[in-house]
Amino acid sequence: MRLILVGPPGAGKGTQAVHLAAHYSIPHISTGDIFRTNIKNNTELGTLAQSYMDKGELVPDSVTNEMVKDRLTWDDAQAGFLLDGFPRNVLQAEVLRAVLAEKSTPLDAVLELSIDDAEIISRLSGRRTCSQCSAPFHSLFNPPKVENICDNCGGALIQREDDKEATIARRLEVYAEQTKPIISFYRNEGLLITTSARGDVTEITARAIAALTAAVVH
Ligand code: AP5
Ligand code: MG
Ligand code: ZN
Repeated sequence: MRLILVGPPGAGKGTQAVHLAAHYSIPHISTGDIFRTNIKNNTELGTLAQSYMDKGELVPDSVTNEMVKDRLTWDDAQAGFLLDGFPRNVLQAEVLRAVLAEKSTPLDAVLELSIDDAEIISRLSGRRTCSQCSAPFHSLFNPPKVENICDNCGGALIQREDDKEATIARRLEVYAEQTKPIISFYRNEGLLITTSARGDVTEITARAIAALTAAVVH
C-alpha cells in the first residue's frame, strides 16, 4: 500500500497514521516529525527547518523534496509507505509522482481527512506531543494513560512550538493557499478518498480502512 494522508493542521494525520501504518504494515513517514527530530538533534537541517516551522511557513521545496526522495530509498519503504505531511503543494506532488513513476510504483490512494476550523483550534491548543517518539495526545480528547507520559514509549509529553495561537492561524492560511490545491490534483488523478475526521479516533480509523478497502484493488 502506497498511501498519502492529507488534511489541515490538527485534522489527526499523525494520530491516524500510527493506526493505518500498523494495519497495513508500512512505515509512517512524517516530514514534520523528521524535521522535529533534526531540530532536537541540532543538525544543520534542523536549524534551517525551525526558522520556517516556528513561523508556520513551509520549509523550502528543494530541501523537503530531497529529504523525502532519500527516505523513499530506505529498505522499509520498498513494499509501501504512508506519507503524512508530504506533499504539501503541487510542486511537491509533481516531484513525488515523477519519483514513483521512475520506479513504476505509483500511489494507491490519497486519503483526505476533512474537518472544520473550529475543531482544529481546540485540537491543536490542547495537543501534547511525545518528545521521544512524536506520538500525539490531547489533554482532553485523547489523554495519555499517565499524565504527561507517552503511552508508547514512556517519553515526556511537550507542547509543540508551532501550536501557539498566532502560528496556528498562519499554518491554516498556508494550508488553504498552498496545500489545498493538491486535493484537486489528486482528484484529477482518480486517487482521492475523502473521509470525515470527526468522531472517535478508532471510529475514524475503521472508516478510513473501509473506504480504502473499497477503493483500492490489490
Ligand atoms: P506537520 O508536523 O506536518 O504539522 P501539520 O500539518 O500542521 O499537522 P499537525 O501535526 O499539526 O496535525 P495532525 O493532522 O498530524 O494532527 P494530530 O494527529 O497531531 O508540519 C509542521 C511544519 O513542518 C509545517 O508547518 C512546515 O513548516 C514543516 N513541514 C512539514 N512538512 C512539510 C513539507 N512537506 N513541505 C514544507 N514544509 C513542511 O492531532 C491533533 C490533535 O488532535 C492532537 O492533540 C490529537 O490527540 C487530537 N486528536 C486527533 N484525533 C482526534 C479525534 N478524533 N478526536 C479528538 N481529538 C483528536
Ligand atoms: Mg502531525
Ligand atoms: Zn513516545
